[in-house]
Amino acid sequence: MRIGVLCSGGDAPGMNPCLRSIVRTACTCNDEIYGIQHGYEGLLNEEFFLGENGSHVMGIRSVSGLSKLGGTILHSSRSKRFQTPEGIRAAADILRKHKFDALLTIGGNGTLSGAIDLGKVWEGQIIGLPGTIDNDLFGTDYTIGFSTAVHTAVEAVDKLRDTAGSHDLMFFVEVMGRHCGDIALSTAIASGAEIACIPEAEESPERIVARLRKIKEAGKASVMAIVAEGDESGGAFAMQKILKEAGNPFDSRAVVLGHVLRGGSPTPEDRILASELGNFAVSSLLLGETGKMVGKIHGELVLTPLEQCVADHKKADTEQLRLLHIVAS
Ligand code: F6P
Repeated sequence: MRIGVLCSGGDAPGMNPCLRSIVRTACTCNDEIYGIQHGYEGLLNEEFFLGENGSHVMGIRSVSGLSKLGGTILHSSRSKRFQTPEGIRAAADILRKHKFDALLTIGGNGTLSGAIDLGKVWEGQIIGLPGTIDNDLFGTDYTIGFSTAVHTAVEAVDKLRDTAGSHDLMFFVEVMGRHCGDIALSTAIASGAEIACIPEAEESPERIVARLRKIKEAGKASVMAIVAEGDESGGAFAMQKILKEAGNPFDSRAVVLGHVLRGGSPTPEDRILASELGNFAVSSLLLGETGKMVGKIHGELVLTPLEQCVADHKKADTEQLRLLHIVAS
């Protein structure tokens, strides 16, 4: 079987160990695996990864040392061309021209939606792998990259807390997550922050300020608020301004962590998940599966139709907000 693999959309720590697992599983099963560079855009440009001995077929050694490497050696992109019917048909023709039997796509919502569109005009097998820091896909408890992003955010918030403590300050720390507050909520709980502002649970400025007054009366000198990028307030700086106008009793600063969360060496959790899902994706192809995403739910490796995975953005568990408010009291 000739399999192509690509990473698309925002990169996520763990994409490289996932590729390592895919390539080595395919090699073990005597399948031919081709790395497609720069996601769907690279597919349209016929950009293939050049492995050992100038060959486009990836060998066992072409993925050496990838367990601990952040980013993706295949490079990624957000292709505008692939979002048009002509672009999708052109991609299908290129897959036919190079005699691919199957395609593995690693990425988030946009990547998997692209895979669905491609599946409508291309007869080969397609399996998606959840690679995004956002953890906003149905069909898996965790996406590849989420653990590392939270780990990086917690490290940053811990450092900011030192300064907040020294200067009796409040920090608004913005983390990525366009449609899902999972990174913000998990970071808040793990770092001992007092407040999480997430798109799933909007709170009025007056309510937040009332909570901040209580926090001050309770004797806390520093406060950390973790703001999801997708929060309706418009991010950390906007939230800082809104709460100041509403009477925030704390002097404050705002920090945007942004793309820092997408980088760095993947955590062991992400490396293990990436290895398991990469292996499972190739095995699923060999069993004839197509149009599905691999994931892990309650410890079990599962396949879910792509349409179900991207039907909506999975939401953060707002019950965890209750936990946050209790443990941060
Ligand atoms: O989807 C992953 C993600 O990192 C989101 O959290 C964020 O909103 C977006 O990508 C940023 O995309 P870009 O790097 O294209 O600005």
